[in-house]
Amino acid sequence: MKRKLLVTSALPYANGSIHLGHLVEYIQTDIWVRSLKMQGHECHYVCADDTHGTPIMLRAEKEGILPEELISRVWREHFEDFSSFHVNFDHYGSTNSEETKAFACAIFEKLKDGKLIETRTIEQYYDPVKSMFLPDRFIKGECPKCGAKDQYGDNCEVCGAAYTPAELKNPYSAVSGAKPELRESEHYFFRLSDERCRDFLQSWTTKGTLQLEASNKMQEWLKGELSDWDISRDAPYFGFEIPEAPGKYFYVWLDAPVGYMGSFMKLCRERGIDFDEYWKKDSTAELYHFIGKDILYFHALFWPAMLEHAGFRTPTKLFAHGFLTVNGEKMSKSRGTFITARSYVDHVKNTEYLRYYYASKLNGTMEDIDLNLEDFIAKVNSDLIGKYVNIASRCAGFVSKRFEGMLCGIDEAGYFPTVKRFGDAGQKIRELYEAREYSKALREIMELADEANVLINHFKPWELAKDPDQSVSLHLICSAAIEMFRCLTLYLKPILPRLAEEVERFLNIKPLLWEDASAMLGAHRINEYKHLMTRLDPKAIEAMVEANKESLKPQAHSPARHAESQVHHQEVAETISIDDFAKIDLRIAKIVNAEHVEGAEKLLKLTLDIGLGTRTVFAGIKSAYAPEALVGRLTVMVANLAPRKMKFGMSEGMVLAAGDGKGIFILSPDEGAAPGMKVK
Ligand code: MSP
Ligand code: ZN
Repeated sequence: MKRKLLVTSALPYANGSIHLGHLVEYIQTDIWVRSLKMQGHECHYVCADDTHGTPIMLRAEKEGILPEELISRVWREHFEDFSSFHVNFDHYGSTNSEETKAFACAIFEKLKDGKLIETRTIEQYYDPVKSMFLPDRFIKGECPKCGAKDQYGDNCEVCGAAYTPAELKNPYSAVSGAKPELRESEHYFFRLSDERCRDFLQSWTTKGTLQLEASNKMQEWLKGELSDWDISRDAPYFGFEIPEAPGKYFYVWLDAPVGYMGSFMKLCRERGIDFDEYWKKDSTAELYHFIGKDILYFHALFWPAMLEHAGFRTPTKLFAHGFLTVNGEKMSKSRGTFITARSYVDHVKNTEYLRYYYASKLNGTMEDIDLNLEDFIAKVNSDLIGKYVNIASRCAGFVSKRFEGMLCGIDEAGYFPTVKRFGDAGQKIRELYEAREYSKALREIMELADEANVLINHFKPWELAKDPDQSVSLHLICSAAIEMFRCLTLYLKPILPRLAEEVERFLNIKPLLWEDASAMLGAHRINEYKHLMTRLDPKAIEAMVEANKESLKPQAHSPARHAESQVHHQEVAETISIDDFAKIDLRIAKIVNAEHVEGAEKLLKLTLDIGLGTRTVFAGIKSAYAPEALVGRLTVMVANLAPRKMKFGMSEGMVLAAGDGKGIFILSPDEGAAPGMKVK
């Protein structure tokens, strides 16, 4: 029976790059979709960038561009990254679309008609300098429990305590550094505490829509009182304005899942698909969302409750997966294991290696999965290439050279039962794919590959080829090997789609479908074998990890984003007059020489050209700069500071640098400034 399915992956935020953690999800979903499409089902896979919210608004502002420009640039990057990894969406959209807006508004209206929307005045921190309300993650301060400085508004990274922003001591805005004020504002709420929502969710979360562990978690949450959900944010905000309420916007998480509908609607318009058939209340089409365990709450409570009470169908199932660790630890920028999709492509190039490795680790649970880089290299080289690709590379040449590319039928041969078993395994493997038990599916497939290799090793075509009397035997074993290889390729195709295409060209066959499992080739002409895959070079992995190490990035150029989030904002110093300031003679200086000072732990000796000759300055910047990185740079110096005799010599001034004890950042003038120019 031909099924109709709509499948989604979570919509990645448009304020960051795709990394190998994200790819766990998109590769997992893509494999699933491909395996269903190969069975001839009508299966649509949609996704989109999640484009709204405060972080995206602020990032665009910082780059000096409109949010629309930012999100279209990121959209292209994301789309390219996914394409490189062969993640084959039927449509990849954006939540910032007319379609998503229309559905978001319609759902809101329906909920309002159903008396599930309410307005309430709340108190929230407001940044008086930026004139905006602050989301929790943009408020920092001292942990109310352990006193750690510079902690976020919702939890402490030092002691792990959870709290509300109002409990933080000495709070400050992470946007401007200003002291936030509590201000009142009217917000819209979705009344999740309403009995209708609770009753619905109690039944929805326990009827096979969730994995067992997810369902248990939901029951925990449903035991307590469900809080109403705050779905509005005040201007300035990048998002959809609420129709009846100028200056109020839908919170990003309200329109994010609606993006699934918006993106699918675009696809329907492109391809003439009937949208309602998939989304109307009594739809018999299947709807699946692949998500990470971190966003289960939104997808298992808010989203189905919204759909149910707005008159749409609810998801058939949610498939939640765990998080990626690298070498057994959380991805880390300092260790170089926070690896972007782009840098993987630059260094490793072949993205099917990673698809294969993830598949070998994935199952249908919410357990975390580990990318062990050594194991990754070993699995690719010994299993994927050593076991699978080798079958073809050891036998195909003889078929071309000795039999003009013709295979022979193998029905009469003694090893027919082995070859037939390959075809028979199809159903089990298909079921494992559907259950998202990819690691088990691969184990089945690799066991078959082992069998094929045992057979080849037993008959040794390379020996048979030496004896002209063994020509028939040679032809049989090579044909059998190619037939088994065809079958393995079919089973691996959801994981290795590009490789499968090349094999299809080599075998001179139509795109492999699941129904072809038992359809042996018989007497058939194949094309010449070309090398299918090279071994994964450990050096490429090393280089990739090196390139992702945060410390390698030039310190003087990258601190902006990173340092800013950690700065502890000190109060501004006592007021001075313009005359006080004018006393300081600041000059552009060129660093003509920089060297280590023997015996000095923190100092570098700088020779500065300020137009009127050179000055020697001892600067405490050794921890942040290598001398050779400084030579030739322009900076700013205090030219009229009284010379100071130091242990290592006379210091004739001071260079300007920003810092808060954690880092040192030398100032640079814009292009065009020249040594000796006055800074005022
Ligand atoms: N924008 C939201 C989702 C909205 S869906 C209506 C979001 N975006 S995200 O970019 O942070 O994450 C996108 C998906 O990638 C999520 O399902 C998330 O769980 C997954 N992953 C992000 N980092 C991950 C790992 N390190 N490991 C595995 N999956 C991870 O959440
Ligand atoms: Zn703390």
